[in-house]
Amino acid sequence: MPESETRNTSRTTWLVGVVGLGTMGSGIAQVAAAAGFPVVGVETSRERAEAGHRRIAAFLERGMARGRGTPEERDRILSAITTTDRLTDLRRADIVIEAIYEDLAAKQALFRELDAVLPREALLATNTSGLTVHAIAGPLLRVRRIVGLHFFNPAPLMPLVEVVRPAGADPETVAEAVAFCRALGKEPVVVKDRPGFLVNRLLIPYLNQAADAYDHGLASREDLDTAVELGLGYPMGPLKLLDRIGLDVHLAATEAIYAQTYRPEFRPPAILRELVARGSTGKKSGSGFYAYDGPPAGEA
Ligand SMILES: NC(=O)c1ccc[n+]([C@@H]2O[C@H](COP(=O)([O-])OP(=O)(O)OC[C@H]3O[C@@H](n4cnc5c(N)ncnc54)[C@H](O)[C@@H]3O)[C@@H](O)[C@H]2O)c1
Repeated sequence: MPESETRNTSRTTWLVGVVGLGTMGSGIAQVAAAAGFPVVGVETSRERAEAGHRRIAAFLERGMARGRGTPEERDRILSAITTTDRLTDLRRADIVIEAIYEDLAAKQALFRELDAVLPREALLATNTSGLTVHAIAGPLLRVRRIVGLHFFNPAPLMPLVEVVRPAGADPETVAEAVAFCRALGKEPVVVKDRPGFLVNRLLIPYLNQAADAYDHGLASREDLDTAVELGLGYPMGPLKLLDRIGLDVHLAATEAIYAQTYRPEFRPPAILRELVARGSTGKKSGSGFYAYDGPPAGEA
């Protein structure tokens, strides 16, 4: 029987590894633990690993203050997540999701290290938003079961996951990744391995156009946002949304995709560069397209 036919795509439990417990990794670890799976979270040091665990605890506390979850659920989730600074603690993982800095060389190096540690059958996924799976995985794609799993921020609250299918991927690997997302209670969509995948391919050019339209004086910032909210039925206008995302974060994303595609819709608008250069990176800094009442501490 071919190896692929022996795999169980309707498995009921997964030992989940998450590498990098920052904004995204801590959220993904929380989601997996909430779904009832044991999670091993890996960071660069014991201190950062513990900080990742505390970040999850703080997110759950904030949720409880807003009426989401119970102390019992919080305790169950936190006790399902162990943290470590050793990649070798992933040697029994069924799936590992990489969520480290958006740095191609760092991700490539990590994938090579993971290749030496993980069981042959483990699924290996990257949560990159601006790079491609093939650029990160390289030749490992031929010997490993690799996909992209692009979660959205904040991972515990956003239902969508883009399951990124690299060229030549075994359909069963993709099916298993889809099943994993469903087991997490997420809604997966399968997308091709191209810069920006699908959501950012649609969103980033739209945000760039809005910033450029504002820069060209087509309307005031308030009227531009109102026009999109009431005219298109979007829940939030593009300039408010850019301020929420962080202009620096958006600039880095659009620059990264532009560098890979040279498509004009990803070329960063001048006003974005100017605002970021002035330190006006959006709500988190106290000003972006709008001015805010003091920097809201810790809020992105
Ligand atoms: N923040 C978002 O809105 C968002 C949304 C979707 C996807 N992403 C993607 O998710 C990934 C992570 O982004 P983030 O915002 O969580 O970053 P972050 O800076 O908040 O966290 C990155 C974490 O990775 C850790 N790390 C770095 N190198 C490591 C290594 N070799 N081993 C273990 N840990 C390591 C760092 O210590 C840090 O805690 C990026 O690829 C990003 O593009 C981000």
